[in-house]
Amino acid sequence: MQGFFFLFFLFITSFSFLTTISTSTITDTLTSSQILLTNQTLESPNQTFVLGFIPGTNSNNIYLAIWYKNIEDTVVWVANRDNPLQNSTNSHLKIGDNGNIVLLNSSSDSDNNLIWSSNQTKATNPLVLQLFDNGNLVLRETNVNDPTKYLWQSFDYPTDTLLPSMNIGWNFDKNTEKHLTSWKNTGEDPSTGHYSFKIDYHGLPEIFLRNDDNIIYRSGPWNGERFSGVPEMQHDTDSIVFNFSSNQHGVNYSFTIGNPSIFSRLVVDSGGQLQRRTWIQSMKTWTNFWYAPKDQCDSYRECGPYGLCDTNGSPVCQCVKGFSPKNEQAWKLRDGSDGCVRNKNLECESDKFLRMENVKLPETSSVFVNKTMGIKECGDMCHRNCSCTGYANVYVTNGGSGCVMWIGELNDIRDYPDGGQDLFVRLAASELDNSGSTGGSHKKNHKAEIIGITISAAVIILGLGFLLCNRRKLLSNGKKDNRGSLQRSRDLLMNEVVFSSKRETSGERNMDELDLPMFDFNTIILATNNFLEANKLGQGGFGSVYRGRLIEGQEIAVKRLSQTSEQGVEEFKNEVKLIAKLQHRNLVRLLGCCVDRDEKLLVYEYMENRSLDSILFDKARKPLLDWKKRFDIICGIVRGLLYLHHDSRLRIIHRDLKASNILLDGKMNPKISDFGMARIFGRDQTEANTLRVVGTYGYMSPEYAMDGNFSVKSDVFSFGVLVLEIISGKKNRGFYYADDDMNLLRNVSENNSSIKLL
Ligand SMILES: *[C@@H]1O[C@H](CO)[C@@H](O)[C@H](O)[C@H]1NC(C)=O
Ligand SMILES: *[C@@H]1O[C@H](CO)[C@@H](O)[C@H](O)[C@H]1NC(C)=O
Ligand SMILES: *[C@@H]1O[C@H](CO)[C@@H](O)[C@H](O)[C@H]1NC(C)=O
Ligand SMILES: *[C@@H]1O[C@H](CO)[C@@H](O)[C@H](O)[C@H]1NC(C)=O
Ligand SMILES: *[C@@H]1O[C@H](CO)[C@@H](O)[C@H](O)[C@H]1NC(C)=O
Ligand SMILES: *[C@@H]1O[C@H](CO)[C@@H](O)[C@H](O)[C@H]1NC(C)=O
Ligand SMILES: *[C@@H]1O[C@H](CO)[C@@H](O)[C@H](O)[C@H]1NC(C)=O
Ligand SMILES: *[C@@H]1O[C@H](CO)[C@@H](O)[C@H](O)[C@H]1NC(C)=O
Ligand SMILES: *[C@@H]1O[C@H](CO)[C@@H](O)[C@H](O)[C@H]1NC(C)=O
Repeated sequence: MQGFFFLFFLFITSFSFLTTISTSTITDTLTSSQILLTNQTLESPNQTFVLGFIPGTNSNNIYLAIWYKNIEDTVVWVANRDNPLQNSTNSHLKIGDNGNIVLLNSSSDSDNNLIWSSNQTKATNPLVLQLFDNGNLVLRETNVNDPTKYLWQSFDYPTDTLLPSMNIGWNFDKNTEKHLTSWKNTGEDPSTGHYSFKIDYHGLPEIFLRNDDNIIYRSGPWNGERFSGVPEMQHDTDSIVFNFSSNQHGVNYSFTIGNPSIFSRLVVDSGGQLQRRTWIQSMKTWTNFWYAPKDQCDSYRECGPYGLCDTNGSPVCQCVKGFSPKNEQAWKLRDGSDGCVRNKNLECESDKFLRMENVKLPETSSVFVNKTMGIKECGDMCHRNCSCTGYANVYVTNGGSGCVMWIGELNDIRDYPDGGQDLFVRLAASELDNSGSTGGSHKKNHKAEIIGITISAAVIILGLGFLLCNRRKLLSNGKKDNRGSLQRSRDLLMNEVVFSSKRETSGERNMDELDLPMFDFNTIILATNNFLEANKLGQGGFGSVYRGRLIEGQEIAVKRLSQTSEQGVEEFKNEVKLIAKLQHRNLVRLLGCCVDRDEKLLVYEYMENRSLDSILFDKARKPLLDWKKRFDIICGIVRGLLYLHHDSRLRIIHRDLKASNILLDGKMNPKISDFGMARIFGRDQTEANTLRVVGTYGYMSPEYAMDGNFSVKSDVFSFGVLVLEIISGKKNRGFYYADDDMNLLRNVSENNSSIKLL
């Protein structure tokens, strides 16, 4: 009996030396004696990833690929992207005689039939091909399972996707490089597309997104915490960790996710966008948590050398202080790509440095770098070297360290509301003399002392607020208005025609298509610790607001509408519709929303200092607001309001401006929030009437409170009340002197000598 089985075994093995893997048993491994047919697959041990064959939408093309098993249509790797199989009959994958993985289009091993092969050179012991749970396909010796000894791995040949624990970058010792390249058509045609995401190691390394050879976007150099051009990147989070390392042996970029059940990947999409996509299981969808280019200012050539891009500016391009547009004509037509030139030539020894705060550092491919030098020494060295045009810290961690010095033009600088870095720019001394010190900032040129506050001062401040904060805007608005609307529409048309080709790549297109991200209810439960009472920030008529933290590390505020309030639903819709279309540094940013059965939630950026009233009317916290801060807050509110009323695409009346609706971020920058009652006006509409007067008594203008008439002026009235509150530190409604019950407004108007401050 035993002999029979032995003979039978011999017969089997000699008859079919190569067996196909059985489709009934799921396996993660292909041995040298097996082949993988086009209707077969390998699955990773946890069944996260599958290796198999996918059809292209184009004719009968077939590709060897890796995809998520339980997520449809998400391919993460393709082997033969530019050389598809054309005929599935007899096509197969196997470990060839020389130890390479080979993809053949026929049963014969002839080189003519080779479609794709791994290029490893060591043919040694018995080999196996194995698919791991992280999506890596490796070729290894049977008895070796040490990542540093793999003979070949798919992670070394990325296509358009960077998975957790995969890396891109350079290995100088082996002279190899890895980068991402888009598909020709995402989801349809995996052949090599035009867009790539590749590290440039010159100077201070950074990553460039290119369309063929043209740079579209750059990440900015790594500053120890994040890329200088990605302020959203969070460092101190337990779930996603970004890792960028660079030394004499190479440069690497990778990321890891603490929780293996969370799928997240970085993709270069065939439309030229870099996207971080995260899978939301309960909604069965990929969400774009981050993408670039995100706005016009992410576009590499937007403002040219010495131009400073500010998304809230109009136009977005400004020149760095001490510089003027090189091509005045194009600049006026909103093409800033020629950049700016110096007003005054440098003189070397007497030159001074302008400190620019919160910027994305200029391109660093040809800079001098010393990673240990301090900023002071760096400045001295730059000052001594006449060809040095600017300097900055390399790292922002621990108060800043390292020295990067630019020789030549400063390219692609942009401004961030917060999260950017300090950059010092060399200027002729006379350019800086009027602002006093060498550290004069380009942003901080409106300074005012507020002394002797009386009612008249309040009025002056109201005016000053508008004038000082928006001098430039008002001037340019005024000019435009004088020219009349005909001229204006002609200018617009000109811009459209002349620069339509440029718009294509500027990222603006994407802004228009941007839909408000939908958050999954479970994500929010996770983020807020199931609406833990301790995370509650506040409560209003509509529901409650909770503090939370997304797995990406970003802090959020979640407004949860009470499930019963019918009125709340209207306001929810209103707010979503409205605020999703608005973007301004003085408006609170809506990150997304969530609708799940009876739950309606709005997700906002988290404001560290909560609402203005919580500081202004609080005895203990009040001293946090000195005059300078109060003035800056007033200016910020004006900017936000001006944007709502004049500069945004819609004309918006907020209708509920009050101290509790002004939120303050970590740096006490004010942001207007709560658009539940806001109304959109037509461009030429100046007034409207409502039967339902909403808002807060004490802030409402008389004609609105009594007749329901509202216009931009109602907001200005509320703003006036707010200014009085900010100056006096007293609340208008519910403010009583010990022996009378007048409110703040009446007090100001009847007692106009002076009011008690603070
Ligand atoms: C896979 O294809 C081969 C021929 O190409 C065929 O013999 C076999 O039956 C197929 N298996 C399945 C499960 O379809
Ligand atoms: C695979 O599954 C095992 C057991 O279910 C689990 O411990 C492990 O973390 C999983 N690994 C991955 C990468 O998902
Ligand atoms: C595929 O190849 C087989 C022989 O290997 C041939 O008989 C068949 O016609 C081919 N099919 C196509 C669509 O080319
Ligand atoms: C296999 O591919 C080679 C090269 O692309 C081609 O010349 C050959 O005809 C193909 N064989 C089959 C059977 O399709
Ligand atoms: C493998 O090496 C050969 C010769 O060096 C080259 O022509 C081929 O493109 C390489 N294939 C891959 C997949 O790298
Ligand atoms: C970053 O990667 C380097 C090498 O690639 C590794 O030595 C280091 O431990 C990693 N750091 C973190 C925080 O993962
Ligand atoms: C980059 O990563 C590889 C392994 O993935 C490692 O061997 C190499 O040391 C890393 N290089 C740097 C500069 O961290
Ligand atoms: C970098 O700066 C430090 C401190 O000034 C100095 O000791 C070191 O020699 C410098 N390194 C290089 C490569 O210039
Ligand atoms: C200025 O610095 C650059 C870059 O380090 C260097 O090439 C050049 O020689 C320096 N010039 C002087 C005058 O020191």
